[in-house]
Amino acid sequence: MDGNGRWAKKRFRNRVYGHEAGIDSVKAVIKCCLEWGIPYLTLYAFSKENWKRPSSEIQALWQLMKRFLHAELPVLVEHGVRVVHIGDREGLPEDICRLLDEAVEKTACGSSLYLQVALNYGGRQEIVRAVRLIAEKVKSGVLDPSAISVETINTHLFTGEVPDPDLLIRTSGEFRVSNFLLWQIAYTEIYITDVLWPDFREREFLKAVEDYQRRERRFGMTSEQVEAREIAHLS
Ligand code: IPE
Ligand code: MG
Repeated sequence: MDGNGRWAKKRFRNRVYGHEAGIDSVKAVIKCCLEWGIPYLTLYAFSKENWKRPSSEIQALWQLMKRFLHAELPVLVEHGVRVVHIGDREGLPEDICRLLDEAVEKTACGSSLYLQVALNYGGRQEIVRAVRLIAEKVKSGVLDPSAISVETINTHLFTGEVPDPDLLIRTSGEFRVSNFLLWQIAYTEIYITDVLWPDFREREFLKAVEDYQRRERRFGMTSEQVEAREIAHLS
């Protein structure tokens, strides 16, 4: 969710104004997922690297996060959204942890949309954590090193059983991954738009989905193979 700062700057306002406007895009995108039947959504809200920002901005982001969770939790419950946190709890403010716990608990039965909120998240750190968890199992003898597979790594990431993302949307025209779901995006389609996050609403999301629908996902195969598989699937 990039571009809040630039959006505010263009309006001669402070960065927090941009983050506030970004909340409405979050709501719009969640609404679209529910309406269009998109079952999984991951929002990259605060990275490990975002701690380098001025503390006043970080504080404002937590305030906004709290306000959002507080105001939107009943709405999320009502619409069957299941909230899950990905990232490290350690380092997050206590009240944020408490609100997250509450959101996770109260939405646990939601089955319309699985919403992963990446907070204090870093892809590399997630992989390090997975390696440590796996190493512990090897050390204690419950896991044989030769049995370690892609699936083993998958299940030790925060994202666990959640399927790899089909589409990664990058707003504000940046051509980089910024430590987001590094392992999981191996075959993800990437969509980059110049639109700044606060302007990313239904129309822009639809454009991204339509662009995705025109892609041919080959996963290493040839075009002919993909077509043959599709025909076999239809018959
Ligand atoms: C939102 O956009 C990112 C976070 C919520 C941390 P930015 O704050 O990075 O906006 P720009 O890149 O300065 O425009
Ligand atoms: Mg940015």
